[in-house]
Amino acid sequence: MGSGIESLVKRFGCKYRYRALPLLSVDTARELAALEDGACTESSLDLGMSRVELCRRGSYVEAGSLSIPMDAIEAVARGGKSSSVYAIIDSEPREVAAYSDEWGFCRLRYLGLGIPTTLEINGIHMHRIEGIDPYRGAELKIRSLGRARGRVLDTCMGLGYTAIKALERGASSVVTVEVNPLVIEIARVNPWSRALESPRITTLRGDVAKLIYEMPSSYFDAAIHDPPRISIAGELYSQEFYRELYRVLKPGARLFHYTGEPGRHGGPSYLKGVRNRLERAGFVAIRWVGRALGFVAAKPRA
Ligand SMILES: C[S@@+](CC[C@H](N)C(=O)[O-])C[C@H]1O[C@@H](n2cnc3c(N)ncnc32)[C@H](O)[C@@H]1O
Repeated sequence: MGSGIESLVKRFGCKYRYRALPLLSVDTARELAALEDGACTESSLDLGMSRVELCRRGSYVEAGSLSIPMDAIEAVARGGKSSSVYAIIDSEPREVAAYSDEWGFCRLRYLGLGIPTTLEINGIHMHRIEGIDPYRGAELKIRSLGRARGRVLDTCMGLGYTAIKALERGASSVVTVEVNPLVIEIARVNPWSRALESPRITTLRGDVAKLIYEMPSSYFDAAIHDPPRISIAGELYSQEFYRELYRVLKPGARLFHYTGEPGRHGGPSYLKGVRNRLERAGFVAIRWVGRALGFVAAKPRA
């Protein structure tokens, strides 16, 4: 790792550690609440990533050494929101959500058993979810870069799906940045974020619009820029930020910049503005990739 990055890791590095908690959706809670005493069923306590045998024993449902009180299960079955995820902590169900005045309301949103969750910040979901699941959306973004190899910068971690898919597609390491501490806590309990534990992924907690100035020049082989919409994070669409993205990339490296559907995340001139600023920053071969809803651009070879 380059010295500029090491210094950032010392000051802003936050090791991702997965927190394995039993997770319930309303659907799963209803299935378990209907179990007769002594009966067993195969179900999931990680939203469908894996399945386990769960047995009702009196006022508990047990899976191996784990036991969940029926009271907790029934509370989710009766009063839970179908789009929420509930973690059982100290025998109580708690919605996987957090609020602070500074960071707003963040929650993990359930999309169905076996479907990777999305993240909602102040009611806005951070992944494409219509006709596509969030993992597939992340795959399309990474594929737009061609082969992801070498060091990849992932500007906006969120649930880490783009970082994880970059590793899967051949990146040797990924540096990913997240400004919102509530998002990092939520990602820690999300089963689909677990691969962020990889020692090849470095997580920095901070504002990428500031941290990028401390990143070394010509360092990354590729960058994925997957910011919130422009009305929320204008600085991540600015000429200054694009110049920095250009600077930290190696000659010949590619950028994927998610923008969302034309006309949906900004006015009609929004995409034109993004393209113009990328061009002024020095990027070439700027191309709209419809299936990934973003631009691919390259830093010219020296
Ligand atoms: C669209 S989501 C990213 C989704 C992510 N790539 C994934 O695959 O899960 C945008 C994320 O960027 C974060 N964010 C917003 N402004 C930021 C900034 N200035 N620096 C770093 N992260 C930021 C938000 O908190 C949010 O989690």
